[in-house]
Amino acid sequence: MTDPIDLADLAFWRQPPARREAAFARLRAREGLAFFPERRVPLLRKGSGFHAVARHADVVEASRNPKLFSSEPSVSTPEPPGWVKHVFGEALVNMDDPRHARLRRIVARAFTPKMLAKLEDDLRRAAAEIVDDVLAEGPGDFVRQVAARLPIRVICDMVGVPQRDRARVHRRVDVSTEYTGVRADLVRTLRMAAGNVYALVDLQRLVVRLGRERRGRPGDDLVSALVNADHDGERLTWRELGSFFTLLLVAGNETTRNALAYGLKLFTDSPDQREHLLGDYDARIKGAIEEIVRHATPIMQFRRTVTRDCELGGQELTRGDKVALLYVSANRDETVFKEPDVFDVTRDPNPHVGFGGPGPHFCLGANLARREMTVMFRELFTRLPDIRSAGEPVLLESNFDNGVTRLPYTF
Ligand code: HEM
Repeated sequence: MTDPIDLADLAFWRQPPARREAAFARLRAREGLAFFPERRVPLLRKGSGFHAVARHADVVEASRNPKLFSSEPSVSTPEPPGWVKHVFGEALVNMDDPRHARLRRIVARAFTPKMLAKLEDDLRRAAAEIVDDVLAEGPGDFVRQVAARLPIRVICDMVGVPQRDRARVHRRVDVSTEYTGVRADLVRTLRMAAGNVYALVDLQRLVVRLGRERRGRPGDDLVSALVNADHDGERLTWRELGSFFTLLLVAGNETTRNALAYGLKLFTDSPDQREHLLGDYDARIKGAIEEIVRHATPIMQFRRTVTRDCELGGQELTRGDKVALLYVSANRDETVFKEPDVFDVTRDPNPHVGFGGPGPHFCLGANLARREMTVMFRELFTRLPDIRSAGEPVLLESNFDNGVTRLPYTF
């Protein structure tokens, strides 16, 4: 049956978060899963509709069972336009086993503890330079001056993008993140989509060039590790390398940026939590980060497609049905989290699904994101002890990316 709350209507996602959260609470409390017929969105194929998975237990069950809840052909709702596959190629996030397992095995080389330890110095230097610039420029927009700068720089360091190409990467990423694929204005959407395709193709061209330079002449960087075969003879094809780079930029950039921005807002709104954290930063930051990711939920949902008739959350499902895993709702499930709206850095346990549910697609970059946030907040709170947000965040209009486009701040 359909529900008066309409998650397929973009107007739903434009509402203030508190209104959306009240709607999710109703979806969690009802029996079965609410079904939402899809609407037509410019440039996107109109699908039949999707079931909303709002309860934590159901999100976990679907994530754990990829044979029944497939990530192919895509994990976004509405269905992405055909060109996305051409441009992105076959992305890890949209694959099932055995293809997913093979690709993840190769790209996981980028995220070993050794690789992350190697990045630590770069990360510290990047955070320190960002704060140097902030001190020179004075306060303004936290997203532009701080949150947007760190993740992209880290990905460039990881991939080994030469300094001379970095401005180009920044420009392309700015264009590509402007397009969210869910806007109602057709002309604007078309213009942004065209810019987005060009930006993504150019980013792929750049990393493939780096890969060609480094195949057979490996350096100590990620591209070298991915394009040269390991002891099992496995390596990425050029196309896979291009797709992986754009996936890293898309998956690792905005998510971490938004988590940093929400973090500052949450610490400003809850000074007691900040004080508690600063009482023993090293011991308490781990729990604080998990709580920021739970409370903010930078990625609000991913989709799965049902591979055979089954049941989820008391709802009969048929092969081909789509289910939207609403991390944003699961992370406020009152049966799992006591006082779920409260930001509590001591919350323990904190089994949030902000990095995805348990299963093969659990965020590959979770440890990197945690390190980035640990280092950045340490630098900020040490050198700008009275830093705080100074107004409400300007939010992106999206049903997927819980994006902050602007956050005024002061120190
Ligand atoms: C706070 C920051 C982040 C959040 C909230 C986040 C969230 C997520 C979520 C929810 C998924 C699950 C996808 C699914 O189940 O279908 C995911 C997957 C993924 N994330 Fe993250 N992410 C973050 C940071 C990063 C970073 C820094 C990177 C890399 C630089 C990254 C790379 C990836 C990749 C490659 C996948 C796909 C894994 C797969 O399909 O096997 N993420 N992320």
